[in-house]
Amino acid sequence: MRLDVVTIFPEYLEPLNVSLVGKARARGLLDVRVHDLRHWTHDRHHTVDDTPYGGGPGMVMKPEPWGEALDTVLASGAPGHTPRILVPTPSGSPFTQELAEELAAAPWLVFTPARYEGIDRRVIDEYAHRPDVAAVHEISIGDYVLAGGEAPVLVMVEAIARLLPGVLGNAASHRDDSFAPGAMANLLEGPVYTKPPEWRGQGIPEVLLSGHHGNIARWRRDQALTRTAALRPELIETTPPDALDKHDRATLEHLGWRAGADGRFWPPEQDVEE
Ligand code: ADE
Repeated sequence: MRLDVVTIFPEYLEPLNVSLVGKARARGLLDVRVHDLRHWTHDRHHTVDDTPYGGGPGMVMKPEPWGEALDTVLASGAPGHTPRILVPTPSGSPFTQELAEELAAAPWLVFTPARYEGIDRRVIDEYAHRPDVAAVHEISIGDYVLAGGEAPVLVMVEAIARLLPGVLGNAASHRDDSFAPGAMANLLEGPVYTKPPEWRGQGIPEVLLSGHHGNIARWRRDQALTRTAALRPELIETTPPDALDKHDRATLEHLGWRAGADGRFWPPEQDVEE
């Protein structure tokens, strides 16, 4: 997979040389190219921003450097290859495991992390209509505002890279991820333990030492249901009834959840303060 990142802070992308992504690069599984947007400015101050039309606070990234940068990156592709362009922005659609899986199957991604109040809209509209671009996705990594899109690029690249064939040692290891698409129920993973068997007075749940695979799987499932019910109740509420077996239902009922007429579960009534 080829990844291009155009940014005014190339050094912010240094972590792409480390750990999982760094190893994938070293092994030739990922071709990462980081470009300095200021390379495509022509004034003495390498200006990339200007005041917003219509007024208001902050600055907007000028279209010309982005246009020249993206034209250069697009022209460097193998003939017939068109990238997806990913624009990190808090006003984008949510980055999900499902999107990470979809993007992991793409041959070429171009990231355009912005600073200030964002990029002049015409840049996004231009490349959304270009025949040499497969798609433009405006993506948010969460409902909070960062100072720029570079950290979101690091987040997205890590989520995508670990899904590439050959990057993780064990192919089964992401099949069971929380939020893996196609999973019947989206449950948070429960606790994990390793040696020593006792640490600061705390032992290991007996069942994990039992060697009984059926009981261990059931215990893990109950832990996942319990944790999800507590921390992400909406994931339980949206679970299709046929994704829950008899034991799952009993576990949820034990936690005070109740099945509605359609078989979906509803959380225990909250005490309302008078
Ligand atoms: N840029 C600033 N905040 C962001 C967010 N939450 N997601 C993606 N890009 C951003």
